[in-house]
Amino acid sequence: MARPRIHQHVNPLARYFRQLPIEPLKLSNVFENPQAPIHIDLGCGRGRFLQMMATERPGWNFLGIEIREPLVIAANETAEEEGLRNLYYSFCNAPLDLGKLLVETPSEKVSLVTIQFPDPWFKKRHAKRRMVNEQLVRFVKENLATDGLVFIQTDVEELDQEMEEYFVDGGFSVKKLNENPMPVKTEREISVENRSLPVYRKEYRVVG
Ligand SMILES: C[S@@+](CC[C@H](N)C(=O)[O-])C[C@H]1O[C@@H](n2cnc3c(N)ncnc32)[C@H](O)[C@@H]1O
Repeated sequence: MARPRIHQHVNPLARYFRQLPIEPLKLSNVFENPQAPIHIDLGCGRGRFLQMMATERPGWNFLGIEIREPLVIAANETAEEEGLRNLYYSFCNAPLDLGKLLVETPSEKVSLVTIQFPDPWFKKRHAKRRMVNEQLVRFVKENLATDGLVFIQTDVEELDQEMEEYFVDGGFSVKKLNENPMPVKTEREISVENRSLPVYRKEYRVVG
């Protein structure tokens, strides 16, 4: 069977991506141990980072969120082939769908959210397509454990500052990091480091 075409980018504001049929995630359907803490990676791309994390941290569950469906299908196939019962990927448009997807997931389970090298959509008229916006920050806050952590990294300084504004305005404290606290690098991170570009890394916690 012909492989579906994988687009480099998709427009999250297109009608199709604003009307995805999102079913609430049922932890017991997708994870062997639904009691384990959850790490959500937003905009996970091909999902290799989470695949390695799932092997590295068997006591956690990993949920990848990605808007390019063929990548999600392929990543779930790989997770199954590898027998990783603590790893699952969902096809959704994060700022619109995260609330619906997690409506049955107790927020106390979501201990870590990562956002790594999100698409910058450099042109001013495309800025609304960026994944991190007010709504996404609200969903993250509503669905994060009290002592939960958000880790963000990007090579685009303007985006780093914009994301910081959204998170701080949304009730998070910010801490600048000099090193990546994750034991695994993402594909984009490796590519950025190979080109010796700077990486801006920050962690956020809910204030109070
Ligand atoms: C530059 S890639 C980085 C992938 C991976 N995090 C890494 O660091 O290698 C950004 C990813 O975010 C996904 N993405 C962009 N907007 C999204 C949205 N609204 N919802 C979910 N995923 C999105 C893109 O499809 C793409 O796979």
